[in-house]
Amino acid sequence: MTRKELSAARRFAIAPMMDWTDRHCRFFHRLMTRRALVYTEMITTAAIIHGDRARLLGYDAAEHPVALQLGGSDPHALGQCARIGAALGYDEINLNVGCPSDRVQEGRFGACLMAEPALVGDCVAAMKAAVAVPVTVKCRIGIDEQDPESSLETFACAVEAAGVDALIVHARKAWLKGLSPRENREVPPLDYNRVFRLKAAHPRLAVVLNGGVASVEQAVALLDRVDGVMMGRAAYQEPWRLLAVDPLMFGEAAPFAQAKAVVAALVPYVERELARGTRLSSITRHMLGLFRGVPGARAFRRHLATEAVKPGAGVQVLVDALAQLLDTDADLAHIAA
Ligand SMILES: Cc1cc2nc3c(=O)[nH]c(=O)nc-3n(C[C@H](O)[C@H](O)[C@H](O)COP(=O)(O)O)c2cc1C
Repeated sequence: MTRKELSAARRFAIAPMMDWTDRHCRFFHRLMTRRALVYTEMITTAAIIHGDRARLLGYDAAEHPVALQLGGSDPHALGQCARIGAALGYDEINLNVGCPSDRVQEGRFGACLMAEPALVGDCVAAMKAAVAVPVTVKCRIGIDEQDPESSLETFACAVEAAGVDALIVHARKAWLKGLSPRENREVPPLDYNRVFRLKAAHPRLAVVLNGGVASVEQAVALLDRVDGVMMGRAAYQEPWRLLAVDPLMFGEAAPFAQAKAVVAALVPYVERELARGTRLSSITRHMLGLFRGVPGARAFRRHLATEAVKPGAGVQVLVDALAQLLDTDADLAHIAA
């Protein structure tokens, strides 16, 4: 994938989400949009350097364009891991400066790095020196008592000077003490205007807005103010929305007109994975929201939730779950909505 193609893909990205955007999830999402940029879960440099790389970094060729998100703060280790990721064919290497969990704070990375822009600049420079693919950063507008006006500006200047290829901003602060990671995605208020001002002040920096984007239509409207939009929970919890990405964001036909056809298209992958020893539920757990709002969706969901976890569960479970949907064309309503 060329740099130009990748910057076009950046118009719409599906957020990195720990325990959610694993390779099965990404393969499933890719069936609904050929164009969106998908992200791995955050993987720490320590895990890559000392862990089982094939398991941590393996992915299917169909997932491209796919970005690898790294967690760490040691420039040397990040450079090393970026090189490993690029050699495996990842299209972009991203650094996490947004995760507020205690575990991450102990490792001195994630959101607490908002307080260390010079170090993040060194990290970006080391990653850029190690790879030819784009290097990006995902951050917050600030942490704790920081003033987002100055914290985001100082941070953006540091990463821009280091040559970052895009800055993805989760448009709210993170509170490192007192809020859980989940609360840190809901409690601090969203401030899109701060991100719009960042873009206006840095016209040459590719700025991607993240946080609270609820529909692809909303993402389209945001493109007037920023270079791209990243959607997290709405994409995961209501994956049918992704069928609108290629038509609305890229002016191309959706890969499938109906969510049911997506499930059918997933069957060969499921068979291949089951043969490799993957449990059916590891794949189907990402599909539970696919028919949300369609008659029979609850039965679809319940069937998968109870049957796919049973030992030896096979493709028939998926076929039977589909049969729970009452109206074969009803899922079209989502796409028209
Ligand atoms: C379950 C879950 C796991 C997440 N894991 C990560 C992660 O590994 N790396 C990261 O940068 N952000 C992570 N996030 C934050 C999302 O990438 C995103 O910034 C946040 O959910 C706001 O976007 P949204 O409102 O569209 O969901 C996670 C979010 C959720 C819900």
